[in-house]
Amino acid sequence: MEIRSVNELGDLSGVRVLVRTALNVPMEQGAVSDTFRLDRALKTIEFLTARGARVILASHRSETTGSLKPVFDYLKKKIALVYVDDIAGVKAHAAALALKDGQSLMLENLRWDKGEKANDEHFVRELTSMADMYVDDDFTTAHRPHASIIGVPKFLPSYAGFQFLAELEGLTPALTPQSPSLAILGGKKLETKVPLLQTLLKKYDHVFVGGALANDFFLAKGYEIGKSLASGTDVASRLLNDSKILLPTEVSVATVDGRDDVQADNVGEGETISDIAPRSIAALKPYIDKARMILWNGPMGNFENGFREGTDILASFIAKAQGTKIVGGGDTLASIQDLGLEKDFTFVSTAGGAMLDFLANGTLPGIEALESSKATRS
Ligand code: 3PG
Repeated sequence: MEIRSVNELGDLSGVRVLVRTALNVPMEQGAVSDTFRLDRALKTIEFLTARGARVILASHRSETTGSLKPVFDYLKKKIALVYVDDIAGVKAHAAALALKDGQSLMLENLRWDKGEKANDEHFVRELTSMADMYVDDDFTTAHRPHASIIGVPKFLPSYAGFQFLAELEGLTPALTPQSPSLAILGGKKLETKVPLLQTLLKKYDHVFVGGALANDFFLAKGYEIGKSLASGTDVASRLLNDSKILLPTEVSVATVDGRDDVQADNVGEGETISDIAPRSIAALKPYIDKARMILWNGPMGNFENGFREGTDILASFIAKAQGTKIVGGGDTLASIQDLGLEKDFTFVSTAGGAMLDFLANGTLPGIEALESSKATRS
């Protein structure tokens, strides 16, 4: 079934619209430290308020007890916005009732209420009774079967916002890659990426495994990985002989004064693999250059601790490639943004786990909820 777009909506004067939006952003010392998602969220909010809607913004922070007030402090400089330190109780209802056409209200962190994660029907009713209509603009949380994602669209006429649709449209071509195709998977926690890896191996001509994910493959090959991070699953040994899998040939190990490049099978017992070596990326370059589709998620090294050279070199190689280039994941994004390469990619996703689940399964609970929402506007 089709997902309805906010673009279909005309005059919304007097209409209360509950917007599930992506406000889960990094914070430092009580203030927003990365506004990328927030700036992208504005398009849908401004579209709705320009049509006279009374917008109620609902979102979460991963830190369950964390407040969304710092996000309010950022957004109030951009739009006519009020804040309430409540989610769906008496104060929130009163604030929603007091809204005027074109104004927005920000509710507090949905996860303060246990009903959000539990998709509790009572909580869903409390949320829906504040609004006449629902817009989901949070693709980044569409993999969570939570109240504000899958519960609310059962009871309110539902639409997808611009950011949600942009993610869906931007990522969909990666589900059916044209040959020759190359998927590049990095980061850590192989155990959480098994379904995706299996899907990629079915659909892509080659899958390059980098970052800490590669360490599991090195172990399965019988290589020493010293003190490097590995997940401990046996998946790598089962996939090792798949000829589509490409692994780094050379890695960097952390030393007291920086890094040393060594062959992947020559890591010492006391050493820690911190990144892939530039020569490994050079070996991957012919695949990058000839691919008609490149999908990339996850850093090639221990990015958060400053080992980002491999990721940065890879980003600059992919940026120059001719094929379709779809990327996502927090650190991958940070690298591309810091290098000013965003415009050289076909699509840069703001989603993390949702991107991985969408690519693995071809859909998400939040997509299905919008597709099957039967409620209509009276
Ligand atoms: C994200 O930031 O990736 C999404 O908002 C989901 O957050 P979560 O992992 O806390 O559910």
